Amino acid sequence: MILELFLCTVLFCAALGPILALSGRFRLGTRRTAGAIAALWLGVSILIVAAAFLWTGPAVTREAFATNRPIQRPTGNYVGSGACRNCHPHNHSTWHDSYHRTMTQVASDESVIGDFNNVELTGKDLHVRLFRQGKQFLAELDMRNPDFSETYQVVMTTGSHNRQAYWLSTSKARELMILPYMYLKADKKWIPRHSGYINPMCLQERPELAVLKGDFGRWSTVCIKCHATHGRSEPLLDQAESRSPNATGTQAVEFGISCEACHGPGAEHVRVNQDPLRRYRQHLADEPDLTIVNPARLPHDRSSEVCGQCHAVIFHRTDEAEKNWRQKGYTYRPGGNLHADPIQFIMRGRLDLMPPDRPRDAPNPAEDGSFWSDGMIRCSGREYNGLLDTPCFQRGKMSCLSCHQMHQAKDDPRKRKEWADDQLKFGMEGNRACLQCHEQFKNADRLTRHTHHAGDSTGSLCYNCHMPFTTYGIMKAIRSHQIDSPSVKTSLATGRPNACNQCHLDKTLAWTAQRLASWYKIPAPKLAKDEQQIAASILWTLRGDAGQRALMAWSFGWDDALAASGNHWQAPYLAQLLDDRYDAVRYIAERSLKRLPGFREFTYNFVGPPDQRAAASQRARQTWADLPKSAPQDFPPHVLIDKQGRIREGDFQRLWKNRDDRPMAINE
Ligand code: HEC
Ligand code: HEC
Ligand code: HEC
Ligand code: HEC
Ligand code: HEC
Ligand code: HEC
Ligand code: HEC
Ligand code: HEC
Repeated sequence: MILELFLCTVLFCAALGPILALSGRFRLGTRRTAGAIAALWLGVSILIVAAAFLWTGPAVTREAFATNRPIQRPTGNYVGSGACRNCHPHNHSTWHDSYHRTMTQVASDESVIGDFNNVELTGKDLHVRLFRQGKQFLAELDMRNPDFSETYQVVMTTGSHNRQAYWLSTSKARELMILPYMYLKADKKWIPRHSGYINPMCLQERPELAVLKGDFGRWSTVCIKCHATHGRSEPLLDQAESRSPNATGTQAVEFGISCEACHGPGAEHVRVNQDPLRRYRQHLADEPDLTIVNPARLPHDRSSEVCGQCHAVIFHRTDEAEKNWRQKGYTYRPGGNLHADPIQFIMRGRLDLMPPDRPRDAPNPAEDGSFWSDGMIRCSGREYNGLLDTPCFQRGKMSCLSCHQMHQAKDDPRKRKEWADDQLKFGMEGNRACLQCHEQFKNADRLTRHTHHAGDSTGSLCYNCHMPFTTYGIMKAIRSHQIDSPSVKTSLATGRPNACNQCHLDKTLAWTAQRLASWYKIPAPKLAKDEQQIAASILWTLRGDAGQRALMAWSFGWDDALAASGNHWQAPYLAQLLDDRYDAVRYIAERSLKRLPGFREFTYNFVGPPDQRAAASQRARQTWADLPKSAPQDFPPHVLIDKQGRIREGDFQRLWKNRDDRPMAINE
C-alpha cells in the first residue's frame, strides 16, 4: 500500500508538468515538445496502472521437483502466503517471524538448528552419525538385531522454538521415517526421541527400535494435521495437478502454519482485490472484507475455533471421515462451526461433556493420561480444551485473542523475538489480561483484599492463582489454560497441584486449606495424616504419577516458588528424581537442580546406564549434605528434614515405594 501511494504521488507530479504546459500559462518551448511530454505522460500512466494490476498478482510457488518427501502445492481455492505478501507486508513479516511459519520446513542451512558436524550418538541398540555432504544433511543409522546399516538424507524438520525433530527420506516414495534423536535448542543438545516425552516408550526394553517402528510414515498421517496448512496424506488430484508427473504422494498447501490456516482459502480475496478501485474502497472503508476471514471480527467462540482446529485433542468421527480427510483434507474452514464438522471431533475431558455419538475408537478420557481425572486438560498445545471449560469463555466473551495476537502490533515496543515467544498482546503477561474484564480489581485495595498478598507480590498475579503451571509439555510445566481457583478438595480428588502449594512448596495441604477457609470461606476438607504433616509438593514428588513428578521437578526450579519457599532444602528431592524411571522427569530434575546453590557445576547424564544414574543421585544427596548450613533449625517444619539437616528416611522411602508408577502417556 505504501508503494502504491508513492507511485500515485509520482504520477500526480508527472501529470502536473504537461497539464500546466498545455493550459498555456507556461511556455515550454514549441507545441511539439508539449505534445511529446503529453504522450510520454500518457505512456507512463498506462504503465503504472497496468503495474498496479499486475504487481499484486499471486507469487505462487509450485514445487515440482522434490520426489523424496511430501510437497507443497496450492490447491483448490488456496493460493499460499506468497500471494498475500505485496498487499499485506506487515502481516506477512510478523507471521514470517513467528514459530507458526517454521513449524515444518524443508531441511536447509536456514532451517536446520541441530549440529550435523560429524556428530556421533550412541544409544542402547543404535549408533547414529550425523554429517553433511555439500548441501545435504545425512544420518547414518547403525542398528543391532535386526542388524542394518544405512545412510538416509534428512529432508524435513519439525519445530524451531524449543526443539527440532528430523525426517528421513526412505526408499518408499515420500514416506518419511523419523530420526530417533531430537535437538534441544536452548541446551544445544541431542537427546533420544523417546526421552523427550512422558510416555511408556522410554520404559521399553528396546525404545529405539520402538521409535523407528512406531513413527514410520507418521508425518503424513499424524503430524501433518496440525503442523501444516491444509494437508492431505493421500490427495485426490484436480485436473491440472494430475497432469503433472510429480503430483502424487502427500501434499500440503504450505509446510508450516500459514495465512490460510487462520484466514481460510484466499483465491477469491486475491482475485477481487486485483482491482485497485475495490482495493482502495475496501482499505478506506474499514469494513469487513467478505472474501476473507478475519478471526478478530468473528464472535469469540468462532474465533477460538480457528485456533482449536489444531490446539485441541482431536479425533476423526468415523473411518469414513478419516478416509475423506486423507484424500481431500479437512472440511473445517475458519469462520465455520468446528463442533459441527463432519470429520474432526473435539475430545472433551469427561464423558458427560461429550455428545453420545463420540467416535468409537476415542479413548475414555478417564483413562487418557492427557486429562486430569476431573476432565481438565493436562497436556500442552491443547489450550482450546482448557478454554471450553473456562467460565470467562462460557459466560463471557473470552477468546484466545483476549490475550494473544497473531501479528505483532506496529506500536508494540517489544523486540519481534520477544513477542514471538508466546505471541502475547503487549501487556498481557500481567494482570491486564484479566482486568480488561474483571475491572473491579483495578483498584489496588480491592486487589490485595482479594489476593491477601502485597500488591507487587508474585502472590498477587492473577495468573499464578488462576492459571498455574499444571499442564505438561515440551519438557516443562506450562500455564493451564482452564481458569479455575485454588482448591484443596480438588487437589485431593485429582492429584493436580493447587496454585498455593505449587508456589509455597514447603507448606502442607492443611496449611492451604486453613488459609482458604479463613480468606475465602472455602470449607476445609478432612485430611489424612500425611496431608497434615508433609509438604504437599513432597507428596506429589514422591508419591505422584510421572506427570505430577515432572510438574514438581519443574516447580523446584521455578524462581517464584524458590523465592516464596527458600531454595536450600529441595536438592534431596531433585536428587531422588535423577533416578526416576521416566527419562523426561530425570531431565527436568537435572535442569532444576543446577539452579540451586552448590549445583551449578553438577555433572550428570540423564540417559546414562541405571547404575550411573543411581550413583549420581547419591552424589547429589551427598553434595547437598556437605553444603554449609546457616542454622540447624533453618529447615521448614514439613519438608522431612530434621534439625540436624538429615532426611527423615522412613517417611521418605515409604512414600517413594508407594508412588503411582502406572505406565503413563501425556500425548503432546
Ligand atoms: C492436534 C494437533 C497436533 C498434532 C497431531 C501434533 N502436534 Fe506437535 N504441536 C502441536 C501444538 C499446538 C504445539 C505447540 C505446543 C506448545 O507450544 O506448547 C506442538 C509442538 C510440537 C513440537 C515443539 C515445537 C517447537 O518449536 O519447539 C514438536 C517437536 C512437535 N509438536 C512434534 C510433533 C510430531 C513429531 C507430531 C507427529 C507425530 C506432532 N507434533 C503432532 C500440535 C500438534
Ligand atoms: C495462526 C493464525 C494466523 C496466521 C498464520 C496468519 N494470521 Fe493474519 N490474523 C490472525 C488473527 C488472529 C488476526 C486478528 C488480529 C491479530 O491477532 O493480530 C489476523 C489479522 C490479519 C489481518 C487484518 C489486519 C490486522 O493486522 O488486524 C490481515 C490483513 C492478516 N491477518 C493477514 C495475514 C497474512 C497475509 C498472513 C500470512 C502471511 C497471516 N495473516 C497469517 C491470525 C493469523
Ligand atoms: C491485491 C491486494 C491484496 C492481496 C493480494 C491480498 N489482500 Fe487481503 N486485503 C486487501 C485489502 C485492500 C483489504 C482491506 C483492508 C486493508 O486494506 O487493509 C484486505 C483485507 C484483508 C483482511 C482483513 C479482512 C477484514 O474483514 O478485516 C485479511 C485477514 C486479509 N486481507 C488476508 C489476506 C490473505 C490471507 C491474503 C493472501 C491469501 C491476502 N489478504 C491477499 C488486499 C489484498
Ligand atoms: C494449523 C494449525 C494451527 C492453527 C490454526 C493455530 N496454531 Fe498455534 N501453533 C500450532 C503449532 C503446531 C504450534 C507450535 C509451533 C512452535 O512453537 O514451534 C503453535 C504454536 C502457537 C503458540 C506458541 C508460539 C511459541 O512457540 O511460543 C501460540 C501462542 C499459538 N500457537 C497460538 C495460536 C492461536 C491464538 C491461534 C488462533 C488464532 C493458533 N495458534 C492457530 C498450530 C496451529
Ligand atoms: C487469559 C489470557 C490467555 C488466554 C485467553 C489464552 N492464553 Fe495462551 N497463554 C497465555 C499466557 C500468559 C501464556 C504464557 C504462559 C507461560 O508463561 O507459560 C500463554 C501461552 C500459550 C502457548 C505457549 C505455551 C508454551 O509455553 O509452549 C500457547 C500455544 C497458547 N498460549 C495458546 C493459546 C490458545 C490456543 C488459546 C485459546 C484457546 C489461548 N492460548 C488463550 C495467556 C492466555
Ligand atoms: C473477556 C472477558 C474476561 C477475561 C479476559 C477474563 N474473564 Fe474471568 N470471567 C469473565 C466472565 C464474564 C465471568 C463470569 C462471571 C459471572 O458469571 O458472574 C468470569 C468468571 C471468572 C471467575 C469465576 C469462576 C466461577 O466459577 O464463578 C474467575 C475465577 C475468573 N473469571 C478469573 C479470571 C482470571 C484470573 C482472568 C485472567 C487470567 C480472567 N478471569 C479473564 C470474563 C473474563
Ligand atoms: C493468591 C491467590 C489469588 C490471586 C493472586 C487471585 N485470586 Fe482470584 N480467587 C482466588 C481464590 C482462592 C478464589 C475463591 C474461589 C472460590 O470461592 O471457590 C478466587 C476467586 C476469584 C473470582 C470469583 C469470585 C469473586 O471474588 O468474584 C474471580 C472473578 C477472581 N478470583 C478473579 C481474580 C483476578 C482478576 C485476579 C487478579 C487481579 C485474581 N483473582 C487473583 C485466589 C486468587
Ligand atoms: C507465585 C507464588 C505464590 C502463590 C501462587 C501464592 N503465594 Fe502466598 N506468598 C508468596 C510470597 C512471595 C509471599 C511472601 C510475602 C509477599 O510477597 O506477599 C507469600 C506469603 C504468603 C503468606 C504469609 C507468609 C507465610 O508464609 O505465612 C501466606 C499465609 C500465603 N502466602 C498464603 C498463600 C495462599 C493460601 C495461596 C493460595 C491461595 C498463596 N499464598 C499463593 C507467593 C505466592
